[in-house]
Amino acid sequence: MVIALDGPAASGKGTLARLISEHYGFAHLDTGTLYRGVAWLVLSENADPTDPVLATNAARTFEIEKLADADIRTKEVGAAASVVAANSDVRSALLDFQRRFALKPPQNAVGAVLDGRDIGTVVCPDATVKFFVTASPKTRAHRRWLELVSGRPELQEAEIYKDLLERDARDAARDDAPMAAADDAELLDTTHLSIDAAFAAARRVIDGVF
Ligand code: C5P
Repeated sequence: MVIALDGPAASGKGTLARLISEHYGFAHLDTGTLYRGVAWLVLSENADPTDPVLATNAARTFEIEKLADADIRTKEVGAAASVVAANSDVRSALLDFQRRFALKPPQNAVGAVLDGRDIGTVVCPDATVKFFVTASPKTRAHRRWLELVSGRPELQEAEIYKDLLERDARDAARDDAPMAAADDAELLDTTHLSIDAAFAAARRVIDGVF
């Protein structure tokens, strides 16, 4: 049983993925962590994320366990992640890990939930259930601002809004595995939904397939 959740930044897919994994006892992989980890490795060496060789080397040597103390949730790492994610060599270096996770979830879990941008289209095209989670850009920027503002009170919502739109545009426009809804994905617009309501909607779909 594999559940794929794709969608733009701060659409709610990460929270939904976590709730689904807890409810059904599935292992959860936030695949954005992998791209953020690669970007963080590059940035931590004061290197340029647009350098394809450096980014590819970082992806090939990357180990998720080594990220324990890395602050990968910043908007700078998010922006650099979407730059390294446009590099096909980086994507292919990270593909095996994701597919293995889906095929053989850790701790013998009975299923896996993966969230990202290309799970339903490229990583797990045969996923049991696919969702494409969206919300209006204003709503997403506000959510992301709420998440980040306590640590960085100087952050402006307008700046986050601009960053999100730039990142979405880059993720949707790249040639390799662009962010896209799979043809057979359920669309879930969370703009006017509470987390509980979005989770209930997702459960209805999943329970219908079980
Ligand atoms: O989901 P998150 O915001 O953590 O992802 C960071 C970046 O990683 C995205 O903007 C996207 O460029 C990249 N990504 C991707 N494919 C995935 C997951 C994330 O290209 N499956």
